[in-house]
Amino acid sequence: MSLADDLATLRASARDRLSAATSADAVEALRHELLGRSGELTVLLRALGTAPEAERPALGRAANEVRGEIEATINGRLETLRGADLERRLSDEALDMSAPGRAVRMGHLHPVMTLMRDLREIFHAYGFEVYEGPEIETDEYNFELLNIPPDHPARDLWDTLYVAEPGSVEAGDPRPAEDGTILRTHTSPVQVRAMRALDLPIRVITPGRCFRYEAVDASHGFEFHQIEGLVIDHDTSLADLKGMLEEIARALYGRDTRTRFRPGYYPFTEPSVAFDVTCLVCGGPGCAACGRTGWMTILGAGMVHPEVIRSGGFDPDEVQGYAFGLGPDRMTMLRHGIGDIRLFFSADLRFVTQFAEGR
Ligand code: DAH
Repeated sequence: MSLADDLATLRASARDRLSAATSADAVEALRHELLGRSGELTVLLRALGTAPEAERPALGRAANEVRGEIEATINGRLETLRGADLERRLSDEALDMSAPGRAVRMGHLHPVMTLMRDLREIFHAYGFEVYEGPEIETDEYNFELLNIPPDHPARDLWDTLYVAEPGSVEAGDPRPAEDGTILRTHTSPVQVRAMRALDLPIRVITPGRCFRYEAVDASHGFEFHQIEGLVIDHDTSLADLKGMLEEIARALYGRDTRTRFRPGYYPFTEPSVAFDVTCLVCGGPGCAACGRTGWMTILGAGMVHPEVIRSGGFDPDEVQGYAFGLGPDRMTMLRHGIGDIRLFFSADLRFVTQFAEGR
């Protein structure tokens, strides 16, 4: 067979194969088979050098013609097939140019953070500023400076998580750190820190995380939040405390909210009170959520104990003040009717995304 015959055969075969190709990918594969580095036409062209001198110009022209034809056919096929492909996809609605875009998922605050933010805004309106303290505390600040001496039975109120003495865990003999480093069990130690750092009048809230050695259940977490409040000035009275807390409760839960004070006990306040609001679930008659009393305790408070004023560096004969500590986790549970505190730290998006109002 002559080269001229081979060229004619290739031309016909290329035409057939290209028209039989049903996808753009198949055409691209054929382009490679025919025109690629070791493609069928390329091989023939290389053989051209071995043809008799006289035939070469004609053969060369014929070969170029075949190449031109193959290229044109390939481009034509690609255009047809790609157009058909797009049409098919459009009619399958796989690609609907008019469809609305996919919504971007927005993050939002955790429901406890939303409540803490609301409280912060309410307190801000009453002139309180935020003063934060460390989550890793010392026994001294967490207890002693708050009038809770070592071995005092009041310590039983706070089941403490101790930081281990360096090396003691590795040695198989875990002991509390000798320097008294613990995880704070409440935000009250920040009372003393604030008094030592700020000038009178002091009017601060301390929102933050606290930690206790708890048997975790639906209403106890080993990690939870508190907001501490502290007001220190020259003539601050229990009446101020009462008025303030009543205003806060109404701002948070509505004007109709009724409140009451009961006697309480805390080593760092004297007198101490527990502050109740009408049950948010039943509104007063009594239900399972409020233990049939119609009331719910949302915080503890009192007049700052003279010993604590002294810890803060002030003379209790000259200044007084009140303090309170409230629990935003429990308040959030009441707000949304959430039955299990463990959900807050579950990192379960199905739970958290239900509270998307807190942007
Ligand atoms: N620190 C207390 C607790 O964790 C709460 C508390 C009670 C804070 C009375 C106060 C207070 O400031 O006056 O149980």
